[in-house]
Amino acid sequence: MTAAFPHARLRRTRAAAWSRAMHRETVLTPADLIWPLFVTDGQGIEEPISSLPGVSRWSLDGIAERAREAVALGIPCLALFPNTQPDRRSEDGREALNSDNLMCRAIRTIRDAVGESLGILTDVALDPYTSHGQDGLIDDAGYVLNDQTVDVLVRQSLNQAAAGADIIAPSDMMDGRIGAIRAALEGERHANVQIMAYAAKYASAFYGPFRDAVGSRGLLKGDKKTYQMDPANSEEALREVAMDLAEGADSVMVKPGLPYLDIVRRVKERFEVPVFAYQVSGEYAMIEAAVATGAGERDALVLETLLAFKRAGCSGVLTYHAAHAARLLHG
Ligand code: PBG
Repeated sequence: MTAAFPHARLRRTRAAAWSRAMHRETVLTPADLIWPLFVTDGQGIEEPISSLPGVSRWSLDGIAERAREAVALGIPCLALFPNTQPDRRSEDGREALNSDNLMCRAIRTIRDAVGESLGILTDVALDPYTSHGQDGLIDDAGYVLNDQTVDVLVRQSLNQAAAGADIIAPSDMMDGRIGAIRAALEGERHANVQIMAYAAKYASAFYGPFRDAVGSRGLLKGDKKTYQMDPANSEEALREVAMDLAEGADSVMVKPGLPYLDIVRRVKERFEVPVFAYQVSGEYAMIEAAVATGAGERDALVLETLLAFKRAGCSGVLTYHAAHAARLLHG
């Protein structure tokens, strides 16, 4: 039993900075950060994304620069998202299977720039490649077909693994894709390629700026509610995680981040596996909007929100603030 006041004064250990440091339960380090980057074609190109102020699409030379920056900052891993040229988008998203697509070239560019000093996480889903902006193959009614999509995602994953991806991260929410991808990776001698499953990914209103960044916003008809999860559900998130782990996921992700920290905590307590969260584009934009109006101060908001992920049970966080946060953490 904890002693009652006045013997217990919780302010006693908070009184001095050294004491606060000594009693701190959670620490945030640059190694907790995964940095998502948007890739575009060309040379010497930086395209700012207006709905994501401070974030740009980079051509491959810029991506190599960001990779060197990440190494210098102690960020362990980059997450790549391509802005596919419009004339390479199609109904079936076949550009995802091209061994020389933007994603594969970005993987090789990063490997050339920094060798094995960074992990490269690649997004598996068809939305950056389809003319309709959905994550999979659709039927005449626009319904995303599960098993046919899984077949393509398996080939997309092998394409990325062959180019040198370290972590395959399926963000599509098809049933059964983790097991199918794991089996294919084993079969192709990619036993050490990890899978980070976007296990609990919600049909969220927070993805808007990302869709601008990969150029799928204007293309997307309808929504993604027949495959991404209902924000009302958390039991279902546990089932998703259980299935993905049983199928061979090495780690799982919850997405979006801050509004779903209760899910992070439930997953962590139930499964005791590495859990990551994605502080998504709309969350980033909300922080920047708060900074722009003077409602909050960037450095403090960034560090507090990222620490909250750690406190909730995350092993790490995908965040567009990764480089800025790492710089702050280095003092
Ligand atoms: C789609 C994908 C999305 C994000 C990552 N992968 C958007 C969507 O599901 O429409 C969102 C990330 C963000 O908002 O930062 N495969």
